[in-house]
Amino acid sequence: MKTVLSGIRPTGNLHLGNYFGAMVNFLKMQEIHRCFFFIADWHSLTTHPDPKMLHVNVTGVLSEYLACGLDPQKATLYVQSEVPEIAELYLLLNMHAYLGELEKTVSFKEKARQNPQNINAGLLTYPVLMATDILIHNADFVPVGKDQEQHLEMTRNFAARFNYKYGVEYFKMPTAYIYGEKDLIKIPGLDGSRKMGKSDGNCIYLIDEPKIVEKKIKSALTDNGPTGENTPKPECIENLFTILRAVSEPEVVKHYETLWDSGEQRWYGSLKKQLAEDVIKLTTPIRERINNIKNDTKYLAEIVESGTVKARTNASKTLKDVREIMGFKSFS
Ligand code: TYM
Repeated sequence: MKTVLSGIRPTGNLHLGNYFGAMVNFLKMQEIHRCFFFIADWHSLTTHPDPKMLHVNVTGVLSEYLACGLDPQKATLYVQSEVPEIAELYLLLNMHAYLGELEKTVSFKEKARQNPQNINAGLLTYPVLMATDILIHNADFVPVGKDQEQHLEMTRNFAARFNYKYGVEYFKMPTAYIYGEKDLIKIPGLDGSRKMGKSDGNCIYLIDEPKIVEKKIKSALTDNGPTGENTPKPECIENLFTILRAVSEPEVVKHYETLWDSGEQRWYGSLKKQLAEDVIKLTTPIRERINNIKNDTKYLAEIVESGTVKARTNASKTLKDVREIMGFKSFS
């Protein structure tokens, strides 16, 4: 049995990107491995969330985890900030993370470009905190979307550097979990952008009512239609096909692929209608469960409490070992 770990930032509701990039794999994995799934609330602090919203968002994501089918009997579900051991290991690992490599991270460069007034130290060392999350449970596999690949590679670098520096074989080299290449998926945005992301306003959320889903998909960016037979698709159309491949039956995808290849015009309306229908079919039962769970504060508290105990037990063992390896000795 392998150890599997993954997390999601509570910066809003879960969208289809989170669902296909992370949740689908979490569900498969909890059946066969020792799993830790957590809510990365410290990571969300880089954008200074409104204190009144932080807890609401954490509760929301936890309800969404459960509504998607994560089972606290099978996996350890916890909230990052309830596990203080992570903060200490983060401090220790930061001593072995260098400015050059952190500045080169794609996500750092993107965020710094988008928001030049808020290039804070937490943003710079974001990959170290993420590596800490993974290494504190010595995870073998990390099921994430393709957007997190570089963070995984950095985690391996930090782990290998620590092992080398202290002459130990302590940390394992974690890998992104992939069933097949197609599982390392990136769901694009509805606005023609390459990635569906919470901060970009191009998302379909699991909690969206059917009317909203229809409206969003109806207004998704398209072009004027194919310009001939078997032409390459422009990005905005390829994006709709990527979502279609994730939510629809293969024969539905084939039908629209054939239409595209034929060079025929005027079927985007039908494509969008079908896409909305299939998204709604997927999200409706999940949405109903989210709405039931999120108001059950007693149930949520019980889950966080038992998850915290399990996560801290494991994390404190790693921290004790790391302290020892680095030369800390108790005075008592
Ligand atoms: P976050 O909160 O941005 O996203 C959570 C998960 O959803 C996946 N994802 C996507 N997958 C495919 N297409 C998309 N458009 C898309 N958008 C998001 C992400 O790959 C991720 O799996 N840094 C992480 C959170 C984190 C973490 C960790 C993950 C913190 N510590 C340790 C794994 C292990 C993040 O910002 O994910």
